[in-house]
Amino acid sequence: MPDLASTTCAITGGAGLIGSFLADQLVDAGADVVVVDDFSKGTRANIAHLDGKVDVREVDLEVMGSARAALAGTDFVFHLASRAYGVGHGAGRHGEILRHNERITDNVLDAVVTLRPQHVLVTSSSCVYPDDGPDTVPELPLFSGEPEAANRGYGWAKRFLEQKAVLASEEAGVPVTIVRPFNIYGERYAWVGESSQAIPMLVKKVMDGNDPVIIWGSGEQRRTYLHAADCALIMRRLVELGYTDGPVNIGLEETVSVRELVETLCRLADRHPALTCDRSKPEGRFVKSSDPTRLFEAVPDFAPTVGLDDGLDRMIGWYRSTFS
Ligand SMILES: NC(=O)c1ccc[n+]([C@@H]2O[C@H](COP(=O)([O-])OP(=O)(O)OC[C@H]3O[C@@H](n4cnc5c(N)ncnc54)[C@H](O)[C@@H]3O)[C@@H](O)[C@H]2O)c1
Repeated sequence: MPDLASTTCAITGGAGLIGSFLADQLVDAGADVVVVDDFSKGTRANIAHLDGKVDVREVDLEVMGSARAALAGTDFVFHLASRAYGVGHGAGRHGEILRHNERITDNVLDAVVTLRPQHVLVTSSSCVYPDDGPDTVPELPLFSGEPEAANRGYGWAKRFLEQKAVLASEEAGVPVTIVRPFNIYGERYAWVGESSQAIPMLVKKVMDGNDPVIIWGSGEQRRTYLHAADCALIMRRLVELGYTDGPVNIGLEETVSVRELVETLCRLADRHPALTCDRSKPEGRFVKSSDPTRLFEAVPDFAPTVGLDDGLDRMIGWYRSTFS
């Protein structure tokens, strides 16, 4: 079983939301941590508390050959860098998103095959799953139908990433862990306007004092949410446990409707706006929940450390520090 202490662990996208929490985890594990990021979305503020504990390499992983230099000398590679945005971003941009992410994938996997680290983790997404699958999604095979419609280009990029990672792993003899996170959120989110993800968008609407607060779709659509600190903890444990038996969903079965989410936010922030649903806006599939059977088989000691109320409270803090 790999012991991360005294090893060198690289995190691509390590200045981003999940990557920066993973940097915390790996520093805690006693690893020397290399953060590789182009800061297109991730921020130096996200890793400022690790000053002196992480080696920061500012690199655009889309540039051919860049990953070989950036990942040289590392024992474990946690690959998280990608163009990742909310559903409002995808329309009309699916091809562009696919091409950006493909360039990153090819460069990082080229480096993995060349440098042969001890182990690599690649970060896929629940967007690989089709919209017409079961409400509670187990780790389905990749190529049944189209990926999630609202994130088609991104979903295809993640399907290709998984497939290419498996082939690179076979070619280079490097064990690979593949993860498919569901909806991950947290207070290190970088605001990107209308392209932002659902929770930051809703927090901003409530905290800006919108009245009514307009919810996209029926408001009854149900999702499962996990804090980025817990996603990072799972990534660390999967690699520590040497897990390589197929892709693992990172998400829980329990869901909350978007309306319930906004009501919770309003309660925590002591705001009392009317809530209006705009059914002309996309809401995606009605229920999307993760079957966590494989996750708990792989990491039996996992228990979430940040509940939804606590996490949303932190997001209210995020709003205050980001916009005031
Ligand atoms: N947050 C979620 O809900 C979620 C769900 C499923 C999958 N994921 C995946 O998890 C990973 C991390 O997501 P996140 O939420 O932390 O997103 P994020 O945008 O906060 O982090 C991605 C990081 O990659 C960096 N990056 C982007 N392009 C780069 C490039 N060309 N070179 C170097 N760095 C680059 C960004 O600056 C950012 O720091 C991504 O692969 C994402 O697709 C996230």
